[in-house]
Amino acid sequence: MKKILVTGGAGFIGSHLVRLLVKKYPDYRIINMDKLTYAGNLANLTDIENLPNYEFVKGDIVDEDFVMMTFDAYRFDGVIHLAAESHVDRSIASPREFIMTNIVGTVNLLNAARHIWKDNAEGKRFYHISTDEVYGSLHDEGKFLETTPYDPRSPYSASKASSDHLVRAYHHTFGLPAVISNCSNNYGPFQFPEKLIPLCINNIRHGKPLPVYGEGTNIRDWLYVEDHARAIDLIFHQGIDGETYNIGGNNEWRNIDLVKKLCEIMDRKMGRHPGTSEQLITFVKDRAGHDFRYAIDASKLQNNLGWSPVVKFDEGFEKTVEWYLENPEWLNNVTSGNYLKYYETMYRNR
Ligand code: NAD
Ligand code: TYD
Repeated sequence: MKKILVTGGAGFIGSHLVRLLVKKYPDYRIINMDKLTYAGNLANLTDIENLPNYEFVKGDIVDEDFVMMTFDAYRFDGVIHLAAESHVDRSIASPREFIMTNIVGTVNLLNAARHIWKDNAEGKRFYHISTDEVYGSLHDEGKFLETTPYDPRSPYSASKASSDHLVRAYHHTFGLPAVISNCSNNYGPFQFPEKLIPLCINNIRHGKPLPVYGEGTNIRDWLYVEDHARAIDLIFHQGIDGETYNIGGNNEWRNIDLVKKLCEIMDRKMGRHPGTSEQLITFVKDRAGHDFRYAIDASKLQNNLGWSPVVKFDEGFEKTVEWYLENPEWLNNVTSGNYLKYYETMYRNR
């Protein structure tokens, strides 16, 4: 029975991936290692938590001894590494946590994988999940390719870029079997409401202002989270060691247009008069160093491994809104207590 470690499996993308793997591969043992920070939530996994091939291990990837002991005990066959501090605004407010988890944590995992696979790395794989933000910011034209030079511009993207470099270095220097993928913005159920879409859904529910940074003209390329999980499954099984794969939705939106579309769907689903939610849109002070545009060219993944997104944006966006409206207790739980303090601090001076 193959033992696969997923780090950060209680987070947004990690929980979708764990669900996919546990259901699709009953003959794998999926071990989810997560510190359960504010972004990690075991409620994201209640539907699969009792399946016999799933196991949860609470722990911090920054804790070197814990990581080494866990790898020694389990002797994993594969690692899919998602655990990270993931929110750009938090990285601007306090970068250090990002350096610790995203860089030091990744090195601890690399060292532990190297250690347990030192005698035989045949069939083993370390898969590092990264972001398109490492490539920097685009103007109106062009898309990020796997060969685009790195140019990270926020503490978050710099820490992810650093971890990508370290994974490549361990592959080249030590022969660690490793692959990397860099994905565009994900959306879907279970995303923590610090990110644009669930934040606006939650604020519309409560009739609170929708804070759009700057003029709302920044552009992101949105992908439904289950399409990302499918890409990860494919790359984990069929990708080539040492390679990088870009993953994207081919689905670019200006923030303001995305928020307006969300308002329209919310009004319809909540039985409100058309135009009600749009009145909540409030332009606020821009994010420091705000990257203008991200767009992914995913043709390598499409041509080499046959992946393309299957969820159309209209369908995925409706499904996402429905999920949040049908699961108010999930939103209420994650937006009580510390979230209120976070929100107040982050948006006070905007
Ligand atoms: P998330 O913030 O929702 O989840 C991160 C998870 O990691 C949480 O469960 C958290 O508890 C856990 N974690 C954090 N620090 C930890 C530590 N020190 N030890 C163990 N666990 C820890 O993030 P997400 O949006 O699901 O992103 C997952 C990965 O995908 C990240 O590596 C991120 O950089 C990458 N990514 C995200 C997006 C996106 O749009 N969300 C896009 C591309 C790539
Ligand atoms: P976000 O969801 O934080 O993802 P990322 O910064 O990793 O792309 O933000 C998506 C876009 O929305 C980004 O251009 C910043 C913008 N944004 C707002 O305008 N208002 C907000 O309250 C947030 C959280 C983001």
